[in-house]
Amino acid sequence: FPGHMTKTLRLMEKEIRNVDCVLQILDARIPLSSLNPEIERITAGKPHLYVLNKADLADPEITKQWLAYFTSAGAGCIAMDSKQRGRATATKSLIEKELSALMERRRNRGMVGAAIRVMIVGIPNVGKSTFINKVAKKKSAKAGDRPGVTRGKQWITVDQGLELLDTPGILWPKFEDETIGLHLAFTGAVRDAIMDVETLACHLILLLAQRKPEALTARFKIIPEEGMSGWDLLEAGARKRGFLISGGEVDLERMANILLDEFRAGKMGRITLELPEDLEREEDDHGTA
Ligand code: G4P
Repeated sequence: FPGHMTKTLRLMEKEIRNVDCVLQILDARIPLSSLNPEIERITAGKPHLYVLNKADLADPEITKQWLAYFTSAGAGCIAMDSKQRGRATATKSLIEKELSALMERRRNRGMVGAAIRVMIVGIPNVGKSTFINKVAKKKSAKAGDRPGVTRGKQWITVDQGLELLDTPGILWPKFEDETIGLHLAFTGAVRDAIMDVETLACHLILLLAQRKPEALTARFKIIPEEGMSGWDLLEAGARKRGFLISGGEVDLERMANILLDEFRAGKMGRITLELPEDLEREEDDHGTA
């Protein structure tokens, strides 16, 4: 667990007293795996909001299900494409709605001028700075994930009523299961190789064959069949694209890199890897174990 991430957690622990609410940015394609349990633990005493970011890359129907899931759990949540124009007002309304009781109390105490202070948190590369720039309608310096880009805390004033605290992206020391690590690697949140690229791509292509086989057919002309392994699927894709090396062997490494790049860039269509029903299934499994 890198030292700069431990430092960030300490900074959050300290700064949490000075904020009114915590807004965790999640990746709409993997809302479960991008939800940081360490951040949840540290920020437990404060109101929480969630933004399902990169919604432009996620399946809109499943995003709706996730919005319903978070809302029914009592947390404010919106879906967002931080690269698109607009949505700044929707985000501000979400924050104001969530904190209306607090604002009311402040007004009653005559603290009319006090701005709402929101801590923005999330895993690396989830879109924190893009989101902040969107809401603040200006380009602010990025709180780097590594020390040296920007040090320490960083407040961004959106307007008189709202201030955002940018924080460096952090992961957590240990993923409870392999799936979380894989999903973070598929979307590019974990950049350091957790395994070789071909094995990673095998896991992704197998998941895509279950979740959205038609995307594999449309993009790579692969027709997934019952019983095919990740390697079989990867090889089929490499053959269809004509990725061959000398002696008629297929170039699996090339295919693996292309699959990962195209998935991350949304070229295979809008695909969500995690569904709210996965969570229910997990709970059932634990319940019956
Ligand atoms: P961070 O602060 O959490 O580390 O993330 P940052 O804003 O730097 O965003 C990481 C990458 O994700 C950037 O892409 C950014 O453009 C992209 N991104 C952020 N929000 C969205 C979104 O809602 N939808 C989509 N599709 N992408 C989003 P990059 O490849 O690093 O840079 P670039 O493509 O912008 O040049």
